[in-house]
Amino acid sequence: MRQAGRYMKEYREVRERVSFIELCKNPELAAEVALQPLDVLGVDAAILFSDILLILEAMGAPLEFGEDGPRFDSPVRDAAAVERLRVPDPAEALPFVFETIRILRRELAGRAPLIGFAGAPFTLASYLVEGGTSKNFLELKRLMFTEPAVLHAMLEKITLATIEYLKAQAEAGAQALQLFDTWAGILGPGDYREFALEYTKRITDSLRGSGVPLILFLKGSAGLLDEIKEAGVDVVGLDWKQDIGAARARLGPGLAVQGNLDPCALYQPPERIRESVRRIIERAGGAPGHIFNLGHGILPDTPVEHAIAMVEAVREFGRRGKSA
Ligand code: CP3
Repeated sequence: MRQAGRYMKEYREVRERVSFIELCKNPELAAEVALQPLDVLGVDAAILFSDILLILEAMGAPLEFGEDGPRFDSPVRDAAAVERLRVPDPAEALPFVFETIRILRRELAGRAPLIGFAGAPFTLASYLVEGGTSKNFLELKRLMFTEPAVLHAMLEKITLATIEYLKAQAEAGAQALQLFDTWAGILGPGDYREFALEYTKRITDSLRGSGVPLILFLKGSAGLLDEIKEAGVDVVGLDWKQDIGAARARLGPGLAVQGNLDPCALYQPPERIRESVRRIIERAGGAPGHIFNLGHGILPDTPVEHAIAMVEAVREFGRRGKSA
C-alpha cells in the first residue's frame, strides 16, 4: 500500500510539476509513478496510483490536499448533507482511473499483476464527517452514537458507489482489489460489525462474481480478526501490532495474509532490516498464502536503499521458505 510516493526521487520529480490531485487525474503520469516501485524496488505487484478519497469528490464533496493532508471544507454531519451526496456513474465521474488501469495493463504486459483499490465505507465516512484526517475521530463517534441512522444512510450511499467503482476497475483490467478500512480499528467488535463489516460484506458479495481476489486491510485489526474472518475476502492485510503467526492461526487456513513489517523498521540500517524481515517470514510459518508487505504505508522520509534492502531480504528468506 502506498508503495509509490515521496520517499522516491523519481516520484518527487513528477510532483514538482503537478499537484497530487492533478497527478491522480493524469493517466499517463499516474501510470508512470505506479511503475516506479517495480523498476526501483523490484516488487512483485503494481498498485494503481490514485487515492481512496477521489470517489467522495465524485459523490459531491469537494476535496483538497494541503500541507497537512486531505481536507473536506464542508464536512457531512447531518441528514440533509447525506441526502445531497450522489451515487455517481464511475465511468463518467472517474474516467482517469480506468484509463490509468488500461495503460498500466498494457505497459506491464504480464510482468506483474495490477491491484486496484477503494476505501471501505467506514473509513471513507470518517474523512467526510471529520473533514480530514483525525486523531480521535470525535465527530464521527458523536454521529455514530447520537444519530446512527444518519451515519448508516451515509455508509449505504458510499457502499453503492464503491460497488460500482470496484466492478468498473475489474472490468478495466485490475487483477486484484484491495479495500482499505484503515480506521475501522478504532471500533470495538460490536460497532465494527454494525458500522463497517456489514458494508464490507455487501461489497464483497457483489464482487464475488467478478472472479478477482479481494484483499481487506485495517489498521489495528488485532481485536477484530474473528469478525474480519466473515468479511468474504481472500486476503487480510495485517498491521505490525500483532504476531503474524498468531493472526494466521486465528484467521484459519482459508485466508491468505499480507504484512506486516512496521514501516518505521525501515529506519534501521539494512542489516537490521534484513533481520526484521527474516523474523516475520519465520513467524508467518512457511505455508503458502503469505504476501510480504509493510503493516501500513511507507513513510516519506524512508531512505530508498532501505526499501530495496527489505525487498532483497524478502527474496532471500522467502525463497528459502519455499524450498523448505
Ligand atoms: O501504493 C500506491 O502507490 C497507491 C496509491 C495510494 C495512495 N493513497 C497515494 C497517495 C493508495 C493505495 C492510497 C490509499 C489511501 N489514501 C489510504 C488508505 C491506505 C492508508 O494509508 O491507510 C488513505 C487513508 C488515503 C488518504 C490519504 N491520501 C492521506 C491521509 C494522505 C496524506 C498522507 C501524506 O503522507 O501526506 C494522502 C496522500 C497520498 N496518497 C500520497 C500518495 C502517494 C502523498 C501525496 C503527495 O504529497 O505526493
